[in-house]
Amino acid sequence: MRRRQLLMALALGALSAPVLMGQAGSGAPALNDLARGAGRLWGAAVSSAQLDDPNLRRLLLAQVGLIVAENEMKWETLQPQPGVFRFTAADRLLDFAERHGLAMRGHTLVWHRQVPAWLRQLEGRALERAMATHIQTVMGRYRGRLDSWDVVNEPIADDGTGLRSSFWLDQLGETYIARALELAHAADPSARLVINEYGLEGDAPKSARKRQRFLALLRDLRRRGVPLHAVGLQAHLHAHGGGPTTFDQLPAFLQAIADLDLDILITELDVNDRDLAAPVETRDQKVAAVYGAFLEAVLPQPRLKQLVSWGLSDRDTWLNSAFPRADGQPQRPLPFDADLRRKAATGVIEQSLRRSSGTP
Ligand code: XIL
Repeated sequence: MRRRQLLMALALGALSAPVLMGQAGSGAPALNDLARGAGRLWGAAVSSAQLDDPNLRRLLLAQVGLIVAENEMKWETLQPQPGVFRFTAADRLLDFAERHGLAMRGHTLVWHRQVPAWLRQLEGRALERAMATHIQTVMGRYRGRLDSWDVVNEPIADDGTGLRSSFWLDQLGETYIARALELAHAADPSARLVINEYGLEGDAPKSARKRQRFLALLRDLRRRGVPLHAVGLQAHLHAHGGGPTTFDQLPAFLQAIADLDLDILITELDVNDRDLAAPVETRDQKVAAVYGAFLEAVLPQPRLKQLVSWGLSDRDTWLNSAFPRADGQPQRPLPFDADLRRKAATGVIEQSLRRSSGTP
C-alpha cells in the first residue's frame, strides 16, 4: 500500500491497528525488526488452528521472524500409535513458515508430557528403540528445514536436586539425555540441538538450585563430547502482587552457559499475571515491568540469539487453562492483547530491544 493511500485509509478508519502494526508508515516498529537490529530474532509459538485467522496471520507476519509449533510437533501428535506418524498439522505450520520466509524451531522430541500412553508402557530396550525411531523419522523428515530442535525438554527436577524422575529416567537411566542428543545429531548433522528447561530465570532459592543442577548436566555433556549447541530457557515468568520480579542472578548464569560455548535461546516467554489484582491497566503495567527487567538481564549477553514468546496475543495464551485467575478474568501475559492490539508490554519490549541495539 502506498503511503498516501495508507494515510487515507487511516483517516477513514478503514484499517484497524493490528493490520498496520509493523508495516512501513504505521510508525509502529516490528518486534523482529528491532530484534534484528540487536542481532537477534523475535519469534512466537503458533498453533495450526490459529493460522485460520487472517488477522493473527497478518500480525505474525508483521511482527515475527520465527515460529514454533505450540503442540503440533509433540510426540502425542506426531506418533499417536506405534509406527503411525501424523505430520499434517506440523507440515502446515512449516509450509506457512517457508512460504513467508520465517525460521521455525522444532519442539519437542524427548519429554515426559504430551506423550501417548503406549510409549509410557515400554520398558528398557523397547523404549530406547522407540526413541531412536521417533527421532530418526521426525528429524529425518524435516532435515535441513528447521532452525533448531528441542531434543530434550525439562530434564531437571522441579526442586533442582537431580534429574526429573520420569519414564525416560526410570527405564533408560541418566544417559537417556546423551543418547537422545547423539541420535538427533546422527539424524540431522546440521541441526542446532537444544536442551530446553523452565524455572531457571528468577532469584528464588529454588531457581538457584535448579540452575546449579542444570549447569552440572551441561558441563557433564560437554566433557563427554555429546553433541549440543544451545540451551533453551523457557522463561515462563511470573508477575507478583507483592513486589517486583527480579533477575539479579540471571546474567551470571547466562555467562556460565556462554563459557561452555553454547548459544542461548529464550524459547517460551510469557508473564503469568494470575496473582495480580485488577484493574487491567495496573496488571498490564506490572507485566510490562517484568518484561523490562527480564530483557535488561538477558539482552546484554552476546550468546543470546533468539527470543520467542509462547503465543503472540493474549487471546491464545495457554495460561488461561493451565493457571486460571481466581476472578475468572483472562490472563494478559503476551506482547499483544486479546484484540491483537498493542499494550504496555509491547512498548517496553520495543524500548528494550532498541536500547540493546544502541538505537535511541
Ligand atoms: C503447552 C501448550 O501451550 C498447551 O496448548 C498444551 O495444552 C500444554 O503445553 N512448556 C512447554 C510447552 O515446553 O510445550 C508447553 O506448551 C508449555 C510449558
